[in-house]
Parts: sequence; C-alpha cells; structure tokens
Amino acid sequence: MEFKKIGVIGAGVMGIGVSVDLILNNLDVILIDTLEEQLEKAKKEILETIRFAPMLKKGSPKLSQEEVLARIKFSTDLNEVSDVDFVVENITEDWELKKDLYSKLDKICEKDICFGVDTSCLSITQVASATERVDKVIGIHFMNPVYLKPTLEVMKGFHTSEETIALTKDFLSQIGKNAIVVNDFPGFVSNRISHLFMNEAAFVIQDDLAQPKDVDEIFKKCFGHTMGPLETADLIGLDTVANSLKVLYESYQDPKFRCCPLLKKMVDAKLLGRKTGRGFYNYN
Ligand SMILES: NC(=O)c1ccc[n+]([C@@H]2O[C@H](COP(=O)([O-])OP(=O)(O)OC[C@H]3O[C@@H](n4cnc5c(N)ncnc54)[C@H](O)[C@@H]3O)[C@@H](O)[C@H]2O)c1
Repeated sequence: MEFKKIGVIGAGVMGIGVSVDLILNNLDVILIDTLEEQLEKAKKEILETIRFAPMLKKGSPKLSQEEVLARIKFSTDLNEVSDVDFVVENITEDWELKKDLYSKLDKICEKDICFGVDTSCLSITQVASATERVDKVIGIHFMNPVYLKPTLEVMKGFHTSEETIALTKDFLSQIGKNAIVVNDFPGFVSNRISHLFMNEAAFVIQDDLAQPKDVDEIFKKCFGHTMGPLETADLIGLDTVANSLKVLYESYQDPKFRCCPLLKKMVDAKLLGRKTGRGFYNYN
C-alpha cells in the first residue's frame, strides 16, 4: 500500500520531528495539537529544520516554504484526521491524556486505520485497551532527531496483528526507516536501559561527583557513544525523561527506576533541556 496522508497528533519535539521526516519523504501531514501557540511554534521549527536538512542529510530535497506549507495542515481539531491513511501519535507521555485521546481517535478514524503510538515507556497493550481496534495499535519509538535516524524500535502489543506489523513496516520503509521489532513491556528495550543511564547520571551530578561535560565525555570518549546521558536527557526533554521514569517505576514497582530528586527539581524549575534553552547545559 502507498501511504499519502498521515495524521500526526501532538506538535511537540517528536510531532515536529515526525512531520519534518514525512514532508521530506513527500507525504501529506495533518498536524494536531490542543495548543494553538504550539502549532505556531511547530510551523516555524518545521520550516527551519527543512531549510537546513540538505546541509545535514545528504540527498534531502530542497523545498521552498510554499512547497512545505502545501504539504502540511496545522489544526486543533482532531476531526481533521478522519481521512488519513495512518496515525502517528506523539502527545505528552501521560496515560490519562493518551487514554482520552485514543478513545476519541477510535471514533474519528476509519476502522481499518492503524495507530502508531510514539511513546517512551507506556505499554502498547495498555494504550490499545482504550480503543476497539486492539489489533491495529502498534508502538513506533521514533528516535530524535527523527529525519537523521534511520533505525527505530517497533513494539508489538499483546493483540497487535501480523498484518499491522507488515503495514507499519511498509509505512516506515516509505520514509526510509528500518524497524527492529520487539515485544511489549514498559520502556521496551531502548528506554528501559537508557533511562537508568540518564537517571543515574543525574544522581552523579546531584552528588557533585563530576560536571555534566565530564560525565558525557566519559561515555563518548571511553565508551564510544555518540552522545552522553546528560546531553541525551536535554535533547529528549527532562520532563519527558521524568515522566518516563514515573511510568517505569509504577509499571515494574522497582526502586531502581525512582526519579532522581535533582531531575524532578529541574523539571519544576522549567529547566527542561534544549526545548526551554537550559537543562544540564545552557543553550542560550
Ligand atoms: N522527546 C523524545 O526524544 C522522544 C523520543 C521518542 C518518543 N517520545 C515520546 O513521544 C511522545 C511525545 O514526546 P515529546 O517529546 O514530543 O513531548 P512534548 O512535551 O514536546 O510534546 C507533546 C505535545 O502534545 C500536545 N498534547 C498534549 N495532549 C494532547 C492532545 N490530547 N491532543 C493533541 N496534542 C496534545 C502538547 O500540547 C505538546 O505540544 C511522548 O509519549 C514521549 O514519551 C519522545
């Protein structure tokens, strides 16, 4: 099947990233957020990212502002996704919000449309339970920045059908993505492990054991990682990291996932990382 029009719900870090990638791959996008100002911010960031894309990724098309805007519609009205071929949902990592959204989406979209859940930690089986199409709900853990990351994690919920997996792989291959399919448990493979790294790195800062730059350099220079845990946390958004740790803690009832108090304090102080200009590093 050739996908043409995709509904992207949530216009934050990931909704923006997914929209950019879809547009660069000639797909039409309906981008939904509850906040008008977030859609305005998303429009600016999408235009800017696409303008710089040819410099950062070889082979990216050079698109004019008009060409980009012809491919995307911004709206606060969820009903706009009634005729899309696939939905990628990227709203705040909060079960109550996702539950409410999915029960609405289920009524709005055609019965055969699949829902791709972009979540850091929530169980896909749990998200599917908010719909009447449990076999058509699948996890797609996009990596950030989306258009620069060719491989992602796909999560198979308890009821996700083989047909949905095949269809999702088709959709992802249309945007040049390679999927690694795993089973469903909160945090999946990537975040169940990476959030322990990020959280423990925050404890290291709280204990004044080292400066953020030194922590990250150890991971990059000694372990050969592309990014260290603290710069990764800043890129993801410290609020999203803290929310994910909360989900992991509640899901596994295991103290190893308790959120570092310093991380929580930084979230309360709105030091959310790149998206607010300051986190473990200053971006202003
Ligand atoms: N940030 C990352 O690096 C990353 C990576 C992979 C997956 N994720 C997951 O993707 C999802 C989105 O993360 P993010 O970093 O983009 O968050 P974000 O906080 O940057 O953006 C979330 C957006 O969702 C909007 N929203 C909330 N409720 C909504 C609703 N009912 N309808 C429409 N929009 C709504 C908010 O207004 C906000 O703009 C989360 O589940 C997160 O765990 C994040």
